[in-house]
Amino acid sequence: MSKEQRINFSSKLAVVAAAAGSAVGLGNIWRFPYELGQYGGAAFLIIYVLFVVLLGMPIMLSEFIIGRMGQSDTVGSFRKLAPGGKWWIIGIMGVITSFLILGFYSVVAGWTMEYIYQAIANQFVSKDTATLTQVFVDFSTDTFRPIIWLIVFIIISAGIIMLGVKDGIEKSTKFLMPLLVIIIIALGIRAVTLPGGSEGLRFLFQPDFSKITSGVVLSAMGQAFFSLSLGMGCMITYGSYISKKNHLSHTVVEVTMMDTLIAVLAAVAIFPAVFSLGINPGFGPELVFITLPNVFAQMPGGYIWSILFFILLCVAALTSVISLMEVIVAYLVEEIKLKRMTATILVTIIILILGVLASLSIGVWKEVKIFNMGFFDLFDSITSKIFMPLGGLLISVFTGWVLSKKSIREELSTHGKFPTRYYNAFIFLVRYITPICISLVLLNQLGLGKWLGLS
Ligand code: PHE
Repeated sequence: MSKEQRINFSSKLAVVAAAAGSAVGLGNIWRFPYELGQYGGAAFLIIYVLFVVLLGMPIMLSEFIIGRMGQSDTVGSFRKLAPGGKWWIIGIMGVITSFLILGFYSVVAGWTMEYIYQAIANQFVSKDTATLTQVFVDFSTDTFRPIIWLIVFIIISAGIIMLGVKDGIEKSTKFLMPLLVIIIIALGIRAVTLPGGSEGLRFLFQPDFSKITSGVVLSAMGQAFFSLSLGMGCMITYGSYISKKNHLSHTVVEVTMMDTLIAVLAAVAIFPAVFSLGINPGFGPELVFITLPNVFAQMPGGYIWSILFFILLCVAALTSVISLMEVIVAYLVEEIKLKRMTATILVTIIILILGVLASLSIGVWKEVKIFNMGFFDLFDSITSKIFMPLGGLLISVFTGWVLSKKSIREELSTHGKFPTRYYNAFIFLVRYITPICISLVLLNQLGLGKWLGLS
């Protein structure tokens, strides 16, 4: 493909901003808190952080290496680095995973737009928890309203992908992300000082290990992959746009730290309020949309804060959706040789179909079940609990066992320019620790753990 069709990250900050823009999103502020709430708080947090360090960082580095070495989309990169092999199938898996994630993610992104609207219309004020819950349930189970927002959101994303104005997006991420952090901190301060808020902090930071089951471990692992955008070719695709001058391992550390910090801050803003207001911490996807409007209603200047917050949440979702779409569009353009415009339109139509299925599965199609789940839950579960860990497993095996050690070292040091003291540890991790760890969690969940004497 011609050079000008590829985005290229000009500066170091732009790389971090784009990768962080992909990583930071609904996963941090919407999904992380409710998973944490459902799976018992502090114990989940500890396992999560362990997975981020043990699996997340080495796999993100592996993806950057594969992308930057392969200089191609996720399928093409594997084809180039292992000609004649079947490794490109990992790339195809990534493209399918991107579609499925987009199917439910863009529905929630649409919800954030509804909440921008509600914030502007000053709808949170003087409503109690029961009313706010009802408002959310009425909205999310409605047949048309969420779908209209879904369409608006997808069209905006498609427009950005088509116009290739990613530069603008990256620049704005640099400015908007710190703003998001400030708002979450302000929310956190308000939440912690609510009467009874300290109960929430205890829930978050005082682990009860009796709550850990194989399902909790799998969910924490899935959340680590989901939140860091790993195991499905996103960071491979972005890696292919990173210049040789970038110090990859630094970028990995920065992105991972930022992503984890924002998730923890979001939880600090949410759980004290949850406990103070008597909301059920195990609520599920509605948790954030019920809790935070409550907090805004009790904050000085809550009107402005709430508008800003939902706008930023929507932008955070947008930069993640763009990175997901880019995986598919880059593949269609570079491998299938479609025009960028055609590829984007095709992808948009498929996401809309998946999104409508996911949205309806919360409302009128509640009864339609596949593997005992509605479409929304199905797309969510199979991606984060199966496809992404499996992709991550294969990516680390590919990096550890297929790529030559010499070429990895070259790539990491940019021909001796950067120190690579962590190199041996990295190779050890991707060869042994990461694949074994992911396999054990997956096997354990399948119930094979008992059989193998693991649990
Ligand atoms: N990491 C994003 C989030 O936390 C979601 C995402 C997953 C984006 C996979 C890209 C790829 O919201």
